[in-house]
Amino acid sequence: MMIDTGKALQRAEFELMRLVSNALTGPVRLPNPFRPSLRDQVAGKTVLITGASSGIGRGLAARVAEAGAIAVVTARRTAELDQLVAEIRGKGGSAFAITSDLSTAEGIEKLADDMLVEFGAPDILVNNAGRSIRRPLNRSAERLHDFERTMRVNYFGAVGLILRLLPDMREKKAAQIITSSSVGTLTYPPQFSAYVGSKAALDAVMRIAAIETLSDGVVFTKVHLPMIDTAMAAPEGLHAYTKLPVDTAVDMMVDGIIRRPDDVQDLLGIAGAWLNLLAPGLVKHALHAVHHRMPPRPAPAPQHRTQPTARAHQPAD
Ligand SMILES: NC(=O)c1ccc[n+]([C@@H]2O[C@H](COP(=O)([O-])OP(=O)(O)OC[C@H]3O[C@@H](n4cnc5c(N)ncnc54)[C@H](OP(=O)(O)O)[C@@H]3O)[C@@H](O)[C@H]2O)c1
Repeated sequence: MMIDTGKALQRAEFELMRLVSNALTGPVRLPNPFRPSLRDQVAGKTVLITGASSGIGRGLAARVAEAGAIAVVTARRTAELDQLVAEIRGKGGSAFAITSDLSTAEGIEKLADDMLVEFGAPDILVNNAGRSIRRPLNRSAERLHDFERTMRVNYFGAVGLILRLLPDMREKKAAQIITSSSVGTLTYPPQFSAYVGSKAALDAVMRIAAIETLSDGVVFTKVHLPMIDTAMAAPEGLHAYTKLPVDTAVDMMVDGIIRRPDDVQDLLGIAGAWLNLLAPGLVKHALHAVHHRMPPRPAPAPQHRTQPTARAHQPAD
């Protein structure tokens, strides 16, 4: 039997990368006996969570409602939201749904209006709705729309909501705005420029907003999530590297709500940020090598090419 040495070496290289990245991902938490519980932080408070019809937002909504929060959940898919609300209420929790499309100015306005009229300003706003695209620049020459649509939801959807809700949240003198950012804004992975660009832009706005609202008691927390096993990440074909469960991401978001830091990162994010600071040239060459070894993004399933889908984070060509 002939052994293909090239393929075997490439396989070994993938395995090594998978082991290293999996070892580095997951929340970093030092033991702290004085750490408040999630219930201490959210019981009786209103938490607005965007992108709650699936994945991380759904998991977080269930978690905060279980801890006594009033969870107001929003996304485009009404049936999924209604099911989540029923599940939460079935367990004795408190939840309400507002359907909204955050890719339009009207959708943002409607959500903000409904929220303020029906529930008042949230104590915690979780900007979690998002979509992802992985595509190298050499395949993007005529695809400005990839950058526009990631910006529309990930950046303008979140910024629009912040602008509308912040004045009332400032009045509370103790509010938090938390976002599902990406480890990519610390590590700059190749082929994710449209996605990471939109997340990094929101991170920058949050940093400045945190400075301007410091004396109003509004905390801005960016949670730099690693790759999580949700519908969004499924089309990327990169699961072998970092197949982390939704609970890991929810744990990181909960950590952000409990400790209220500026940033929540895992070891991968911390290592990425430091390496980019200390040895940016080395990191650039290493990531260039990774770029050439990344498997191509799988082609979209045939139905996605012929039928418009309600789920914008599905492969969209
Ligand atoms: N999964 C990962 O590897 C990963 C890593 C880092 C960061 N994140 C971030 O985590 C967040 C949640 O993603 P997920 O992994 O949980 O994926 P997901 O299960 O696909 O959830 C995405 C959510 O965003 C909502 N959404 C998408 N477009 C929207 C729009 N135009 N208007 C309103 N809601 C919209 C979706 O609801 P509808 O389709 O019902 O509208 C869905 O609830 C995203 O911001 C993502 O960028 C994810």
